[in-house]
Amino acid sequence: MWKVYKSQIPETQTVQQYIREHTDFLQVRDIKPELDVQNNMLEISGLQFDWEALGDSIEESFWRYGSGNEKGYRFVSHDNPTGQPTKSTSYTCLSIVHNPNHIENLPQNYSTLGTRMMKGDRYYRGGKRHENDTAVMPEILKDSYYDSWSFTEVTEAANNGALKDLSNECLNRSLIRGRIGKIDSKPVDRNHGECHIDDGWHKDEHLLENTRIMIPLITSNNFCLQIKDNPKDYKFQLGNAYVMDTHIPHRVIPLDKNAREYRIHIIYGTNPWFDYNKEEDSWTSNEFYGKMHPFDMIAAGYYFKQPINTRII
Ligand SMILES: [Fe+2]
Repeated sequence: MWKVYKSQIPETQTVQQYIREHTDFLQVRDIKPELDVQNNMLEISGLQFDWEALGDSIEESFWRYGSGNEKGYRFVSHDNPTGQPTKSTSYTCLSIVHNPNHIENLPQNYSTLGTRMMKGDRYYRGGKRHENDTAVMPEILKDSYYDSWSFTEVTEAANNGALKDLSNECLNRSLIRGRIGKIDSKPVDRNHGECHIDDGWHKDEHLLENTRIMIPLITSNNFCLQIKDNPKDYKFQLGNAYVMDTHIPHRVIPLDKNAREYRIHIIYGTNPWFDYNKEEDSWTSNEFYGKMHPFDMIAAGYYFKQPINTRII
């Protein structure tokens, strides 16, 4: 068993970096799943929630905790310290979790969405856009934007109304950096350069460092998710959750750019092998560490609090 207290981590490291360096995590994290999902999708069905109430609550979160005009926030940066979207920004977000000790003290509902220290040449990490991108990181990383595992407290936006149940009573695993994303396909100026959805291929963190549980709350037939080397267009159904290896390049695109529709998904970032203890401010490896891939944990019923069914689609 590994146990790491936040207090023992130096300022220059994130929790993940510290754990990679001081445990055998890097040797065990490339575990192969028994459930051979590869570059397909795992669909989770059977969840019992009031989906209509969840849709209403998430709409309310955008107007109550967003940036105005029912939009969320876009990337926080040196030049955009409050993450304000422009009129033509079609993809906006709200944070699901925040870090009360964040070194920039960002407001909770956009606390995970960037850093005021970020200028043009800095990336969240290497390889976000291109395989060979290298990250240009600031010196202090603990409790910074880069410290994904330090975002552990559920935000107002993700605790609003019926969402309180979903954010707190759906998953058995500790929450880490995640977001609520709204994509709006109303006609926008496609040459503006801010439209994430035109060419949105990207990779997220290693699956064993952040297993993203995607749950559609407002769905639209106009959007699909695509995965590299997989010809399928995935459309998510209300009532299900979805998981894939988001370390494989993927993107979300609208099929008809002129359709006046939008969709809202909540994407919980979860830590499959380490559990957070708030009182101690510590992370401890759990019984699945090094032994069971998150896909297998999900199928075996260790991830969701309710009985579920899974199938590869
Ligand atoms: Fe992604």
